[in-house]
Amino acid sequence: MMKEKERLDKILANSGFGSRRDVKRLVRFGEVLVNGERIRDPEYHIDVDNDEVVINGEPLEIEKHSYFMMNKASGAVCSTKSDRHQTVYEFLAEADNQKRLGGSLSTVGRLDADTEGLLIFTTDGELNHRLTFPKYEVKKTYLVHLRDAVSAEDKITYAEKGKAGLHIPAAANDPECDAKPCDIEFLEDDKCTITVTEGRFHEVKRIFIALDNEVVYLKRLMMGTLHLDERLGRGEYRSLTDEEIYSLKELVK
Ligand code: URA
Repeated sequence: MMKEKERLDKILANSGFGSRRDVKRLVRFGEVLVNGERIRDPEYHIDVDNDEVVINGEPLEIEKHSYFMMNKASGAVCSTKSDRHQTVYEFLAEADNQKRLGGSLSTVGRLDADTEGLLIFTTDGELNHRLTFPKYEVKKTYLVHLRDAVSAEDKITYAEKGKAGLHIPAAANDPECDAKPCDIEFLEDDKCTITVTEGRFHEVKRIFIALDNEVVYLKRLMMGTLHLDERLGRGEYRSLTDEEIYSLKELVK
């Protein structure tokens, strides 16, 4: 399912040869050989496992896609620029952030500024698209702290209403609507986990508004097969292991 071939300009930008514009110029100037042949088309597709690329006379160690998980800190926004907030990209090491400047490292979906926890970054646009595409109904599990403690009876009601699919209020540009069924499991009277399969704007917060309660703390624990590595402090990140990448790809293949 995943593309085995990648565009030459993308590979060079990901490998630190400058912006997409810079690397297009390099290719057009004839600085790049693929399997001994001079290639002047920046959109030429490379077999990353088998082709030999030489740039400015030096063999290129082709960098494969990057996959990271971050324990997002509250207060950071998932956009590339903000006047008021730190962005999640500012938590990345310069070399990793360059991959975005090269045009392709992005977050898989978004978390609200005040939400913490699991945030995936990747340069793999195909996997990113699939993990967020509604058809795949990728599960996302959150830890929720609630404003109001919930009685034993209401815990059952919350779970039943969640399973049936709640009618949630409008938020920003998303009108009121029926959310898809979700799983709510209580840990304490005012703490639960919720698992949703959609990625609607403020979805979890809206679900609890529909239940006459309010989310006061939200942390994503899981996305698809990937669990947040709790050893990561707030704002820290690490590369995904080969097994983690493989199981995410399998999930949406
Ligand atoms: N639902 C929300 O309300 N906020 C998030 O950040 C993620 C899911």
